[in-house]
Amino acid sequence: MPDSYRRLVFRVGGDAELFSAALWEHGTLGLELVGNDRVVAYFADAASYADVAWSEWGGRLETDAPCESSDWMAAYRAASRPLAIGRRLVVDPREPELSSDEADNWPDRRLLRLPARTAFGTGSHASTRLILELMEECDIEGKRVLDVGFGSGILSFAALAFGARSVTGVEIDLESVLVAEQNRRLNGLFPSWIAGGVSALGDRGSFDLVLVNVLPERIAGDLDRIRRLMASSARAIFSGIPTTWERRVAGRLERAGFRPIERSTLEEWTALVVEGQE
Ligand SMILES: C[S@@+](CC[C@H](N)C(=O)[O-])C[C@H]1O[C@@H](n2cnc3c(N)ncnc32)[C@H](O)[C@@H]1O
Repeated sequence: MPDSYRRLVFRVGGDAELFSAALWEHGTLGLELVGNDRVVAYFADAASYADVAWSEWGGRLETDAPCESSDWMAAYRAASRPLAIGRRLVVDPREPELSSDEADNWPDRRLLRLPARTAFGTGSHASTRLILELMEECDIEGKRVLDVGFGSGILSFAALAFGARSVTGVEIDLESVLVAEQNRRLNGLFPSWIAGGVSALGDRGSFDLVLVNVLPERIAGDLDRIRRLMASSARAIFSGIPTTWERRVAGRLERAGFRPIERSTLEEWTALVVEGQE
C-alpha cells in the first residue's frame, strides 16, 4: 500500500458517467460523484495520470492533493456485500477472510471471489453486469472464449464457470494482470492470460465467443484483428459503449465486418452482440 494517495477533484462539463469511465480507464482506484457536476477520484500516485488530457473527456481538474493512506479500499471492501448478477453468479468483493455465510444465501449460484482492489472489476459496474447477463444467453458450454481487457478476470472466470472449453485473455494494464493472477488462485479457475493487447495473440487462436468490455475508443484499432480471430459463426459481445455513442459504434462495427444481432442497455451503457459477416 502506498503511504499516501492523490485526491483529484474535477468539474465535469458533460456526461459525468462518461467522465467516470475515462477515470477507470486511466487507473483510478475509486471515485465519488458529488452533486451533478463534480467527481472526486483517487489515484495511487501522480505518475499514473501525468499524461492524461482530462479536457478531452469533458472534465476540468480543480484540485490535486495528497491524502493520507487510511486504506480506504479496505474500508470499501469491508462495507461491500456480495452481489447477485444475472441468474447464475454471485460476486463477493470482500477479503476472503471476511466473506462468510452471506454468499451462502445463494446456494444455486456460482460464487466468484473478487476482493475489490479498485472499485471496478467486482461486477458492480453496469457495463460488466450487461455483458455477464448476455453471456448467460450465449450457450457457452464447450466454446473457445477470448476475453479482451480481462481486468480483474471476472468475465474469464464467469466463462469458465459457465462451461467454456477454454478461455484466453489479453490485458494491457500490468497492475490489473497482477491482481487478476491473485484472483485466479483464489477462485481455482485458470484461464490462459497474456499481458498485452490483441496483437500479442498474433494469428493464434480461433474463437467461438469474444468478450469486450472496453471503451470504444480504446478498442477501435483492434476491431479488424478481433474479427479475424473469430471462427465462422462465432459471436462477439461489445459492452462498455456509452448509449449516446451507440449509433456511431454500431456503424464502426459494421464497417469492420460485424453484424449487430442484439442489443441491451443498463443505466447509461449499451452492449451489442454481433456476429462476423460471411
Ligand atoms: C472497463 S474495464 C473491464 C474489465 C473487466 N473485463 C470487466 O468486465 O469488468 C476495461 C479493461 O480493458 C483494458 N484495456 C483497455 N484497452 C485495451 C486494449 N486495447 N486491449 C486490451 N485491454 C485493454 C483496461 O486496462 C481495463 O482493464
